[in-house]
Amino acid sequence: MKIAVIGTGYVGLVAGACLADLGNEVVCADIDEAKMGMLRKGQIPIYEPGLEELVRKNISEKRLSFTIDTVAACRDSKIIFIAVGTPQGEDGHADLKYVLDVAETIGKSANGPKIIVDKSTVPVGTSHSVRNAAQRHTEHSMSVVSNPEFLREGSAVRDFLEPDRVVIGSNDREAAETVAGLYRPLGCYILITSPESAELIKYASNSFLATKISFINEVAAICEKVGADVVEVAKGMGLDRRIGRQFLNAGAGYGGSCFPKDVKALRKTAKDAGYDFEIMKAVEKINSLQKKLPVKKLKKALGSLVGKKIVVLGLSFKPNTDDMREATSIEVINGLLRKKAEVIAIDPVAEAKAREIFAGIAYSKDVYSAAKNADALVLLTEWNEFLELDYGKIGAAMRSMIVVDGRNVLDVARLRALGFRYFGVGR
Ligand SMILES: NC(=O)c1ccc[n+]([C@@H]2O[C@H](COP(=O)([O-])OP(=O)(O)OC[C@H]3O[C@@H](n4cnc5c(N)ncnc54)[C@H](O)[C@@H]3O)[C@@H](O)[C@H]2O)c1
Repeated sequence: MKIAVIGTGYVGLVAGACLADLGNEVVCADIDEAKMGMLRKGQIPIYEPGLEELVRKNISEKRLSFTIDTVAACRDSKIIFIAVGTPQGEDGHADLKYVLDVAETIGKSANGPKIIVDKSTVPVGTSHSVRNAAQRHTEHSMSVVSNPEFLREGSAVRDFLEPDRVVIGSNDREAAETVAGLYRPLGCYILITSPESAELIKYASNSFLATKISFINEVAAICEKVGADVVEVAKGMGLDRRIGRQFLNAGAGYGGSCFPKDVKALRKTAKDAGYDFEIMKAVEKINSLQKKLPVKKLKKALGSLVGKKIVVLGLSFKPNTDDMREATSIEVINGLLRKKAEVIAIDPVAEAKAREIFAGIAYSKDVYSAAKNADALVLLTEWNEFLELDYGKIGAAMRSMIVVDGRNVLDVARLRALGFRYFGVGR
């Protein structure tokens, strides 16, 4: 099957490479010339485990190509995926400018009937807007299928190839079946729904996961007051199969390119429909408070932060990605700089992206030398390498042995035995 994927970011690139690997002929298009230049050479502009090998393999087997010529990509393909960004708009809704631009391009360039597959996360009703934007420029039939993506950065290739489910929403049964056919080789559950349901499934799923996180963060606050340990509480809750252990990790708040904007967008969808989504309001409020916790805990431990040397472990919004969008590190580092602390930051892959965000902080590749004369460590991203450090050696180099564990992943008993003052979240 000939497929075009328009928008070659985290989602488009993974979808394009995986669809090619399933045997389709895929062309990925993007307006970013530099990115496409890199990709043609098999270089990956983002950090995503397993993706580089997959891209190189499918380029060399001639199933995957990259172009900036969106028009040609659309002409040559019967199925066109839209995977451009849908950033938060001013009113809280997703900004559909990029999605509708692409839909128009598809209509204007159509040389035959097309199936437009919307993979970007979009508000309920967008399927109709996409169809209108394309159809008004052509006589050929434009079918639209909503196919939200559930991959997680950091395990995106595996998530795409081994999904819990694939959701396909369309009023055009034939188009829905054609798109479902692309996923059949995965052997996963394929749920075919109305376009409205498919669009809402995506927002409701992300908002539910964000709710789980904010829920356990509130439980953590209670734990601190009553002397319980939220890690034990979450384990005890999670062993109940009705609840499940995932997304019950208390910590310094969620970030990333999806949860914050999708929670806002679901609230806006509800509001437009005349419904006030109370729970989501609380979820957002709790999350913004959680992101402020590390600085609060440092102040509690150190008093004034003026001139204090703080080593920040982890910058990306979660491990195994270099994505800095809405990362907790942004709130924490800006908070520390406002308090006139001296910040030295370490991240295995996100340093380049962080340099575009922060001014006035130092970076290091080596925790042991960064820790020299440090007043505190604050862990914000649970990269594996931070769990395996020699904390005895680190503590010996520090001016004061204080650690704020924003993800509750460090070995509390061991750190305390070494002489650290340990501050977790809810323990
Ligand atoms: N990142 C995730 O983990 C994730 C997971 C599930 C769903 N989503 C959703 O998928 C969509 C894409 O997210 P992303 O993280 O891949 O975004 P991204 O910002 O990484 O990539 C978007 C790409 O689209 C390109 N683009 C913009 N306008 C274009 C145009 N007119 N023609 C061609 N290319 C164009 C940009 O240059 C960019 O490379 C969003 O709606 C997002 O909410 C993201």
